[in-house]
Amino acid sequence: MQIIHTVEALRDVLQTKSNIGFVPTMGNLHAGHMHLVQIAQQHASFVVVSIFVNPLQFGAHEDLANYPRTLVADCEKLEQMDVDILFAPTVNALYPNYDGVELNQSMTVEPSPIAQILCGASRPGHFMGVATIVLKLFNIVQPSFAVFGQKDFQQLFIIQDMVRQFNLPITIMAGETVRESNGLAMSSRNGYLSDAEKPQAVQLVNALQSVVTFIHQGRQDYATLESDVQQQLTQLGWQVDYVSIRSAHTMMPATHLDEQLVVLGAAKLGNTRLIDNIQFCAKPLK
Ligand code: PAJ
Repeated sequence: MQIIHTVEALRDVLQTKSNIGFVPTMGNLHAGHMHLVQIAQQHASFVVVSIFVNPLQFGAHEDLANYPRTLVADCEKLEQMDVDILFAPTVNALYPNYDGVELNQSMTVEPSPIAQILCGASRPGHFMGVATIVLKLFNIVQPSFAVFGQKDFQQLFIIQDMVRQFNLPITIMAGETVRESNGLAMSSRNGYLSDAEKPQAVQLVNALQSVVTFIHQGRQDYATLESDVQQQLTQLGWQVDYVSIRSAHTMMPATHLDEQLVVLGAAKLGNTRLIDNIQFCAKPLK
């Protein structure tokens, strides 16, 4: 595996490659990321993984400084998977106007209104930061396709929308959420959980699963169901940001006409903000 830190060196190597598969990450790699790498390897002739903790997508009071940076261990994992290139750029490489304090990225991607709801409502500017860095990375790597996780459903939705609206010649593939044996979605932020919080963290996906079960049992009062489940989580000690039943196609609040649904949740356990979602059919599969 080649490890490349500059845009120029990467362009040099990629010049002669075709059918490039790309997996963008912020590192601290776990089995969820590796699943995306496997999908890329199944379809690509050449696989590029990027590791870059993108300052533009973190709010002022978020965990940019503490975000886990584990480059040595990450390299070993990618090496074992036989990835072709790890692109691990510096902030300066991706933000040419960075002066050591400010990024000075005055031109940004303003994503569609979906970026203002759910996680976008509690993390203003987050999806602008994600869309901007992903567009930069797409311009640098110029992949045939890129793989994103369904774990970040709203992010995946916004990237697909960006590719469509900007006519980018890139296919977006989605990888299923990889979970711990108890059901907890793998996440770099799980590392923030205390020993006491770790077993509790699965309550989030369990709460979302209970929404699916209730709907399959015939409950149609989606708004009440959302607030019931939020209340349950609150009683268990979570600070709930949202539990929301949406159309999986539009991300608009689900109506009874929608068949493909997604229930999304975001909540804080202690200081750790976790997100998860489950996609499902309104009618149970027979
Ligand atoms: P990061 O959180 O490192 O995630 C990188 C990719 O891994 C994303 O597509 C995410 O959805 C996927 N992923 C994370 N946990 C997963 C899991 N348990 N199962 C399957 N896939 C999982 O998402 C980002 O980085 C950044 O926002 C990025 C897109 C790299 C832009 O900076």
